[in-house]
Amino acid sequence: MERVSAPSGGRESFGTRAGFILAAAGSAIGLGNMWRFPYLASEGGGATFVLMYIVFTMLVGIPLLLAEFAIGRRGQGAPVASMRALGGRRWGRVGLLFVAAGLFILSYYSVIAGWTLRYALDALLGDFAPSAADRFGEISSGTGAVAFHVGFMAITTLVVVGGVKAGIERTSLLLMPALFVIVVGLAIWAATLPGAHAGYLVYLSPDLDEITNPAIWRAAASQALFSLSLGMGGMLTFASYLRRDQNLPESGTVVAFSDFGVAFTAGLMVFPLIHSLGLQAAVGESTVGALFIALPGAFASMGSVGRVVGLFFFVVLAVGALTSAISLLEVVTASLMDEFRLPRRAAATGAGVVIAVLGVFPALDIGVLGLMDKIAGELLLLAGALAIAIFAGWRASVAVQDELRAGASRRWQACVRPIVLALRWLVPPIVAVALFSSMRETLAAVGAFLAG
Ligand code: PHE
Repeated sequence: MERVSAPSGGRESFGTRAGFILAAAGSAIGLGNMWRFPYLASEGGGATFVLMYIVFTMLVGIPLLLAEFAIGRRGQGAPVASMRALGGRRWGRVGLLFVAAGLFILSYYSVIAGWTLRYALDALLGDFAPSAADRFGEISSGTGAVAFHVGFMAITTLVVVGGVKAGIERTSLLLMPALFVIVVGLAIWAATLPGAHAGYLVYLSPDLDEITNPAIWRAAASQALFSLSLGMGGMLTFASYLRRDQNLPESGTVVAFSDFGVAFTAGLMVFPLIHSLGLQAAVGESTVGALFIALPGAFASMGSVGRVVGLFFFVVLAVGALTSAISLLEVVTASLMDEFRLPRRAAATGAGVVIAVLGVFPALDIGVLGLMDKIAGELLLLAGALAIAIFAGWRASVAVQDELRAGASRRWQACVRPIVLALRWLVPPIVAVALFSSMRETLAAVGAFLAG
């Protein structure tokens, strides 16, 4: 037993500070950065969306991230146990919302991750298919989609079974630096494309007409949450494996900036690429599949260079997806371990199997996948974020403040009071407005889906 380094009662812990930071960054950096962000940005007027996204990350994202860190480290448990410890039984039940979010998000997230594995395999074994739309149709439905989803879940489950240090921390320490290098390399390559300039122009110069468009505001707000993995207790659970000497405000800032950095750099690759090949319309057209049709099509038209670049691109997507999926599965696993005293192996395997089965539905029907992304990836996260803000800003604000100060240097301690004030007064109304508007839109989407 590694009793020496465990903070209390034999609870697992991260071995190094960097291990925690990279695991949290690994949770944050994923399909959200390299697929959802560029696609939303290209729909939302490029730079206009990017600016709004930065605003929400600063005002809402960072305070919520620190709230999750503080609650988890203070409560020393997964969401249900931590919120119960700090706020009583009723708040413990609110923690169930997070378990549900983790379960549902991972069941479709893993399907998309399966597509990325399949495209990576295409590049490795042969070529990207010349008809990108047909190939996407094959990849995103049927037994192949189910098989790759199940395969991806098996890998994720193996890592989580490995535990905090040997599974999660080691995987993050290994994969995240590689991911950073490849993303930067891809952006540099894209700069050499003819016509890259036009892409940068759209990406970096705001279209001020769009600034009054509420749909873009809402998309930016929910993307800020999704991208930082907030509102589902993943960051909370990771922080529960920390000792009190970690500087939480500093770690949170590093995580938020690396998350933004990777999203922004992914945009620096995607925008020049789609503009130099004139694919703007294709990306704006459909929703979930947009980039998955446009980019392989682009790579296919570039011959062997496209094959190599495409391989790197899809490998990096799959790696990002894996480190995010780990955090989603860890929330469910750790909750089962806390509540039912299950051993890690049984908890992770059980959760992994349930999610693999749930994911069969989105794997067979992309309409279901889009709907799940709206309900779980937007609505449940917004609801979870609202609960965290109210909990940290009102119910447990003294404990949260105290916890954020512990381990922080003087300079960082000065940020704690403003953060808690933001959690109390600023974050709840902003998230509530987004939640309300998302609820209306989701109901409409469900109605449309049911009507066929
Ligand atoms: N943040 C991850 C991404 O950007 C997705 C995610 C959302 C992971 C919510 C965990 C929880 O891809």
